[in-house]
Parts: sequence; C-alpha cells; structure tokens
Amino acid sequence: MREQPYDQGVRVLFDAAAVRERVSQIGRDIASGAPGDDLVLLAVLKGSFIFAADLARAIPKPLRMDFLGLSSYGRETESSGIVKITQDLSQPIEGAHVVVVEDIIDTGLTMAYLLDNLATRKPASVKVCALLEKPSRAIRNIRIDHVGFVISDEFVVGYGLDYDERYRNLPYIGVLDPRRARRRAVREIRG
Ligand code: PRP
Repeated sequence: MREQPYDQGVRVLFDAAAVRERVSQIGRDIASGAPGDDLVLLAVLKGSFIFAADLARAIPKPLRMDFLGLSSYGRETESSGIVKITQDLSQPIEGAHVVVVEDIIDTGLTMAYLLDNLATRKPASVKVCALLEKPSRAIRNIRIDHVGFVISDEFVVGYGLDYDERYRNLPYIGVLDPRRARRRAVREIRG
C-alpha cells in the first residue's frame, strides 16, 4: 500500500515564504522598539519553539533566550485556563525587557495567567509577541504588541503548532480538517 503524505488533510494557510517574511518584519520591529540593553526573548513551550528560533535570528540586537514550559490542564483542542508551569525560566528577569513569544493566542487565558506570573518577577517591561491571534475566541482581552497573522476560528497546525503532538514540523501554517484528524486517530488506534 502506498504511504500517505504526512500532511494529508492539512490545507496551507500561510506558506513558508509568507511566514518567513512576516517573521523578519516582526524581528525588525522588536529590535527597533526594544528599550535598554537587557532584552529577553521568552519562548513559551512547546508551540513557539520554531517561531522563537526564527524570530531570534531576525532580531539584529544582543538578547538572552529563555524558555517557559506551560500546559493547560484537561484540554484537547480547547484551553481550560488552568495552567501548569512544566518548566520554569533558567534565569531571573528582574529589570529586563521581556518579549513573550507565543505561537497562538486563542482565548487569551494562558497569556493572562502568564502575564500575572511574570509581573511578580519584576521585569522592567513585558511585551507580547504572538505568531497567530484568533480574536473571535478571545475571553480575556490581551494587548498584543507584535502579531504575525490574525486568523478566523480554524484549527491550525504546523510551524510549531500541533494536533495531538503531531504536525509541529510542517514548514508552513495550515488548517487541519478535523474529520480527517479523527479518522486518522481511529485508524492508528486500531493499528
Ligand atoms: C497553546 C498555545 C498557547 C495556548 C493558547 O498551547 O501555545 O500557549 O494554547 O491558548 P489560549 O489563548 O486559549 O489560552 P498548548 O496548551 O496547546 O501547548 P503547546 O504549546 O505545548 O502546544
């Protein structure tokens, strides 16, 4: 039997070239708006790992990289708003100018939690950078300083974003057909 392409059921929304161009622009914007010397790019894991890696290289300024692992309790494709820190920062951010890098802001619950948490660590400033924003789903109003693309309420995968831990390695951002994803999961469970 012929092997099916690993991205079957995914429709391209922003191809690799469009993503590259947008990330370069955001990198320049962050560099020109960054006050002070101590710039920290704080990537929220796991979804932002590819975006953050490309973004860091698009910022022509000295910076520190750090990573924060977050996961929502009790979720499949929906955010619960109850967030657990699975991996904490490696260094203090007191007095630093922090740019939080997220792959997507959906309900805004995760970012609201994170911003409250970061404020207790006394950074000089905190900005939010999200590759994707889904305003139609917003529950908490988050001020996003840098946004890649505003999207409608579709299930997106690729360029770091997953469905059930898959598709993060697609070099583009795509929309996953939920029926296909379900059928695939059932096939795999049956073997
Ligand atoms: C995603 C994304 C954000 C959050 C956004 O993370 O990376 O952290 O959901 O959703 P919200 O605005 O509705 O709170 P996810 O929990 O899927 O984990 P991942 O980054 O490891 O894929």
